[in-house]
Amino acid sequence: MAYRIAVIVGSLRRESFNGQLAAALQKLAHPQLEFTTVRIGDLPLYNQDEENNPTEAVRRMKTEIAAAQGVLFVTPEYNRSIPGVLKNAIDHGSRPYGQSVWSGKPAAIIGISVGAIGTAIAQGHLRTVLGYLDMPTLGQPEMYLQNKPGFFGANGEVGSDGTREFLQKFVDRFTEWVKEHADRAANR
Ligand code: FNR
Repeated sequence: MAYRIAVIVGSLRRESFNGQLAAALQKLAHPQLEFTTVRIGDLPLYNQDEENNPTEAVRRMKTEIAAAQGVLFVTPEYNRSIPGVLKNAIDHGSRPYGQSVWSGKPAAIIGISVGAIGTAIAQGHLRTVLGYLDMPTLGQPEMYLQNKPGFFGANGEVGSDGTREFLQKFVDRFTEWVKEHADRAANR
């Protein structure tokens, strides 16, 4: 059985390290996981007045999340929190009240930044938001990555064998996490 994973990258930057990390993770994953990178850059700013009149971009994003068995958040840290574009996407998906597309979807968080604590504070904030949205979120391994020269090779691969092994553990555990939740939901 294939498991669809919605990937949400919290940076819109063309050369985003988090975008590169998301691509590297997908290469390490078991072929049972089918990844869709969800576009969030074309979502309007969330406005409750427009909640019942969603744009095509909002509808598309919600459809992609609803169709997924798991969600992978790959995000930088902006000013010690999550980027506004990511929060905007989360807010869109959470409404109208009672119709959240996030509810019950197993999730994992990973991020890379240039700072020494590697997105730890942003991840903590995101974890709080996902808890409220009733998304069971993988606790371990935690993945706080700092980008230094050589982290990514010329073709976007992860440069160090040690880091690659660390990422492999994360992807493998996330795969189990998604399967556990999908199987539980199927047997309900
Ligand atoms: C940053 N950066 C940053 N880094 C960090 O470790 N902690 C932080 O709080 C911040 N704050 C912050 C705010 C804003 C507005 C920007 C643009 C940047 C630096 C950040 O780690 C760096 O720009 C990364 O390259 C961003 O990730 P992407 O775009 O490469 O995926």
